[in-house]
Amino acid sequence: RQQTDLQGKTVMITAGPTREPLDPVRYISNHSSGKMGYAMAAAAADAGANVILVSGPVSVPPPAGVNVVNVETAQQMFDAVMQHVQATDIFIATAAVADYRAKVLENNKIKKTGDELTLTFVKNPDILKEVAALPNAPFAVGFAAESQNLAHYAKSKLENKKLAMVAANDITTSGLGFNSDHNALHVFWENGDKQLGPAPKTQLARELLSLIDEKYKNKPSN
Ligand code: C5P
Repeated sequence: RQQTDLQGKTVMITAGPTREPLDPVRYISNHSSGKMGYAMAAAAADAGANVILVSGPVSVPPPAGVNVVNVETAQQMFDAVMQHVQATDIFIATAAVADYRAKVLENNKIKKTGDELTLTFVKNPDILKEVAALPNAPFAVGFAAESQNLAHYAKSKLENKKLAMVAANDITTSGLGFNSDHNALHVFWENGDKQLGPAPKTQLARELLSLIDEKYKNKPSN
């Protein structure tokens, strides 16, 4: 077990995709595997933290010693996060939350009557942004999946969402990211940055967690 300041701290992690229902049989979602979030949860548990893993539907098994809260929709993920946020010291948002949900959840199966189908979507809450905006907000870490101008978008996310750190990955690099076991991250904070990987997500999670630990303990308020 590595020596960290995470011993006894509460770390909440969101992971996986969310699933937004359209009717009783259909939903929209995305390709997030949950692997990075689950690897972060395992690393945090290994470091002695109390880990709350708020997870969308994934096929990876939960790590040992972690409290898993299973959710489906972005709204359910938001509610679960808000329920536990007061006790949280560090919040790590790895989930690929659906930005929109159907405005109307049809009670009956949508029939294929027309040649075209138009659905209206409304915005879901930005869980990470709402957490970081709370009074006494936990140390908030976000992820940014980008296909261009990675540093620029990552830094603006850091500012816009008032995050302590943002871990950005280039989704165009083949063999890395979404469904892969490997990833590479470019991590940004207020006055610095560091590249991690390419490496297996399990190793990357440990490296990112020790970087989080280092910045967390140097925060004046801790
Ligand atoms: O703005 P964007 O979706 O690119 O930001 C990604 C970061 O914000 C990730 O850390 C993701 O988990 C988090 N997020 C969230 N709730 C949303 C959308 C994104 O927590 N509705």
